[in-house]
This record gives sequence, structure tokens and C-alpha cells, in this order.
Amino acid sequence: MTHRDVIIACDFASREATLEFLDRFPEGRKPFVKIGMELYYAEGPSIVREIKARGHRIFLDLKLHDIPNTVKKTMRVLSGLDVDMVNVHASGTVAMMRAALEGLTREDGTRPLLIAVTQLTSTSEEVMQKELLIGTDLRRTVAQYALNAKEAGLDGVVCSPREAGLVKEACGKGFLAVTPGIRFADAAADDQVRITTPADAREIGSDYIVVGRPITAAPDPVAAYEKCLKEFI
Ligand code: C5P
Repeated sequence: MTHRDVIIACDFASREATLEFLDRFPEGRKPFVKIGMELYYAEGPSIVREIKARGHRIFLDLKLHDIPNTVKKTMRVLSGLDVDMVNVHASGTVAMMRAALEGLTREDGTRPLLIAVTQLTSTSEEVMQKELLIGTDLRRTVAQYALNAKEAGLDGVVCSPREAGLVKEACGKGFLAVTPGIRFADAAADDQVRITTPADAREIGSDYIVVGRPITAAPDPVAAYEKCLKEFI
């Protein structure tokens, strides 16, 4: 059975704009949504509870990156929000990722999925090498960060769809590849660099695609969502 799904990045600045967007979907159609920093910092945990109560699954994309103890304690707070997926930056180290997992795991052993960002899909290899002084190729960095995440016990990584195959090769089929950087064949890239179409993402091995502007800024977002699902599932 496939668990492939499309996650809509709800990158809105307010509760009103987000709910207005979600209200466009027909009764019973409850897309998996991503709440990122913009919305979370604007509205706080109440927006998470409200969207959860409407029946959506939620990926809370706060990309934690701090000392292990701080991340552990923050994850403990987030695990109380009953979201379905949360994340950290893999560059925070294996020790930080282990601490995140520990903090996230509830007393009864349950927890949301925990994934790690490898390299942001807006980062090019040139920037990674010249600005961040990571002197290896980008694919090698992604594979190593994925292995680190696996070693820490995480469920998968966030990476470019172009790197999903590489992640599966390094970490096994069951290790999740969650991939933003999705654009329809005829669309602009915006600020994204390492992009593919939904169909190519499926071919390469993505488990979840995270799609923002191609859906949220479309003239008919529901139709764009359905198109994404059709191409990807
Ligand atoms: O609008 P667009 O489809 O580019 O949105 C992609 C979403 O995925 C944004 O919310 C962005 O923060 C997120 N993301 C990303 N690259 C990563 C991790 C998350 O683009 N590596």
C-alpha cells in the first residue's frame, strides 16, 4: 500500500487567509497541510489546533536547529500539539536529532513523524560550496545528512525531489523522502533551484511532495491540488 501524498504548504500570514483558502475545498476533501514559520509565528499553536480540529493532517515545518537540550524540550512541547509530522535541520548534528526524537516521543511511545532537512531546495551547489564552505558536492552532502538522520533514528528527510532516489539508495526504501521544490512543467521556478514536476518526483521516489505556490497562488487552487494529486499518486 502506498502512503504517497501531496502536502500543501499553507504559507499564509494569518488565520483568516489560511481558513479562507481551506474553505475552498469541498466538504470531505481534507488535504494534508504544512504549517510553516510564517503562519505559526503569526498565530501560535491555536492555528494548529484549529486546522487539526477541521480534520486535516498537519506537517509542522519549524525546522528546529539549536543545542540538543533546547531542541529536546521544544519537541516535547510540540508533541503535545498532536501534529502528524515535524522537522529539524540535519546540520544540527546526530546528537541534536537524537535529542529531538527523545523529546518528541510521548510517554505511551507514540510520536509524530520526525524528518530532517538536508539542504534547502533553494540552495545551489555553488552557494553551498562558496558561502557555506562545504567543500564537497551537494548530492554527497544530502546522502550523508540522510545517513546521519537515519543513524539518529529519524523517519526520513526533506530534500529535493531530484535527490529522493539517492536518499533511498543510501538509507533504504522505507526511509521517507519528503520533497518541496515542485513545479508544474509550464510554470516559473520562483526562488526554488532544485525542482521537478509532481510526476518526476514520483518516478524518482518521493513519498510526500510539499507544494506551495503552484497551488496557493493558482487561479483555481482546488483544481491545481487535484492536478498535483493526479500526477503524483
Ligand atoms: O511555494 P513553494 O512550492 O516553493 O513552497 C515550498 C515550501 O517548502 C515552502 O514552505 C518552503 O519553506 C518549504 N521547504 C523548501 N525547501 C526545503 C524545506 C522546506 O522549499 N528544503
